[in-house]
Amino acid sequence: MCSHVRIGDQAPDFTAETTQGKIRFHEWIGNNWCVFFSHPKNFTPVCTTELGYAAKMKKEFDKRKTKIIALSIGTVEDHKHWIPDINLSQNTTVEYPLIGDKDKKIASLYGMVHPNESETTTVRTVFIIDPNKKIRLMIAYPASTGRNFDELLRVIDALQLTDDQKVATPVNWHHGAECIILPSITDPNEIKELFPQGYREVLPYLRYTQVHEKSLS
Ligand code: BEZ
Repeated sequence: MCSHVRIGDQAPDFTAETTQGKIRFHEWIGNNWCVFFSHPKNFTPVCTTELGYAAKMKKEFDKRKTKIIALSIGTVEDHKHWIPDINLSQNTTVEYPLIGDKDKKIASLYGMVHPNESETTTVRTVFIIDPNKKIRLMIAYPASTGRNFDELLRVIDALQLTDDQKVATPVNWHHGAECIILPSITDPNEIKELFPQGYREVLPYLRYTQVHEKSLS
């Protein structure tokens, strides 16, 4: 996969045909976050489970003001034929759009086609894009390995928290767990003001605190 885009870049904008009509990507994201993921091919087992699980998680994404959209090379008509299989086998209803990228324009823009692999399949990639249309996460997976969509929710929680407060999240952090005070904050008065609840210091540069997080119920 050629890397055309990098973490921190502006996500390239595009117009696309989708199973829910024509969209302009940035306009469609609007003031929301977005999970944009490609999967190798329609009518394949791993992809069927992934798209079904993503559909089941839609409510969790909604709580985080996050829209989801999938892409594979092929026509919207083909995607529409596949959706009933996903719905039936995964016991769900796909309510998010699938992009039909038959001429690979969007896949090429995002570096989703491996130059030495099949020209008709996309790599299993995932991007998290913020409301400013900046790419905040990108991961590529092997074709034979289904993604962990719960991990994407965890990263969105972490990004939304660390955008709001002067903290970072430690290994395996999850919503509600202790986070880390940014090492750049060293002034004791500022620490007191920002973290009146206190903190525990393990190392001078590793200080844990419990912050108030938005409710996800
Ligand atoms: C799948 O989604 O099942 C799949 C796609 C490409 C290669 C292997 C598995």
